[in-house]
Amino acid sequence: MIQLCNSSVRELQAELQPIQKKLNSISLRDSLEAVRCVLKKKHVQSSFLRETPDERRETMKEFLTDVETLRANARENMKLGPVTDAYGADLERVLYVLNQALATELVCVLRYKRHYFTAKGIDAQAAAEEFLEHAGEEQTHADKIAARIAQLGGQPDFNPATLTSRSHSEYDDSSELEEMIKEDLIAERIAVASYTEVIAWLGDGDPTTRRMLEEILAVEEEHAEDMLSLLSDSS
Ligand SMILES: [Fe+2]
Ligand SMILES: [Fe+2]
Repeated sequence: MIQLCNSSVRELQAELQPIQKKLNSISLRDSLEAVRCVLKKKHVQSSFLRETPDERRETMKEFLTDVETLRANARENMKLGPVTDAYGADLERVLYVLNQALATELVCVLRYKRHYFTAKGIDAQAAAEEFLEHAGEEQTHADKIAARIAQLGGQPDFNPATLTSRSHSEYDDSSELEEMIKEDLIAERIAVASYTEVIAWLGDGDPTTRRMLEEILAVEEEHAEDMLSLLSDSS
């Protein structure tokens, strides 16, 4: 695309007038060459006019070859769904890490639910409300991660028998409110650290998974802040 400001257009029109008189007597190729000389003089950027017709044809040929290859690959590996040759991460490892994250989120749901139903004492009301809210958000994270695992062709692992061993954070059944909050804060800090590592490891290899984890990480940081605030209020 050629992009010119109004004054540049007027200047060009003035300079092109004498050339236009000759256009009837010269070939299209020559007239294009004349236009190119004027534009070059004005430092106008245009890939179309910078290239000779032969160069342009070569560029178009390469581009068409690329499209054909893309289409052939997309058709050949249809069963891989959204995973194409352009996928830049270690898929098997990504699925393993996502299943660890799924286990972590599910354990967080269970821990927060346990804390919500058992919180007692003067400060319990505010804390219990936070526990319940966090439980809901951890469930949303688990659902997003499970959906992404399935989208990538993996198997989301909900097996309760191995849940705690696959989770980064731990379950907690403390009876004291302050202990509950401390354990939740520690669990959130573990989640923040592990998501930060996974995001850095993914880099540009799988931008969709990385963006999802970045959104989850932001919420985990808020959870950690909430727990720290509750802890300060209770002490
Ligand atoms: Fe979470
Ligand atoms: Fe959290």
